[in-house]
Amino acid sequence: MKKIDIATSALIFDELSQMPESDQTLMNAAIEARAKAYAPYSNFQVGAAILLETGEIVSGNNQENAAYPSGMCAERVAIWKAGSTYPNMVVKKIAISAASNTSTVDKPVGPCGACRQTLSEYEINQKQPIEVLFMGEVGKIVKTESLLSLLPFSFDSSYL
Ligand code: THU
Repeated sequence: MKKIDIATSALIFDELSQMPESDQTLMNAAIEARAKAYAPYSNFQVGAAILLETGEIVSGNNQENAAYPSGMCAERVAIWKAGSTYPNMVVKKIAISAASNTSTVDKPVGPCGACRQTLSEYEINQKQPIEVLFMGEVGKIVKTESLLSLLPFSFDSSYL
């Protein structure tokens, strides 16, 4: 038996203005998308913006449903919009921002497990990391270097 340590690293920014300008632009697109979320049940709005290698930004937001499990997270709305519109296009980054009608979200909100899994498929296929940037409504912003760094021991097509 042996024990292994799995490390991941992240950059933490105190404010958006400290980030490189292109990251600020992407996060602002996520914030803009967040404002159009359809989240009448959770009152928790999430926006996601994806930067493609062409420089184009594709955004999405959470879309809820009266049959709760039929709703969808912002990240998957955005990546499927990008994947279906521009198949095989390299994704450079995804920015995520979340807010609530009931309180101020001041902690960075990372993508849920299902969204990490979904996004990792694109990262593996393109053989290039996708940077992940996430924040709440206010407060610190987390920037990680890849999807797989957020998903150790993940499942992928090599097992099939
Ligand atoms: N949500 C997202 O859009 N992304 C996440 O990564 C976590 C959760 C949405 C789903 C649901 O509409 C609301 O936030 C509350 O869970």
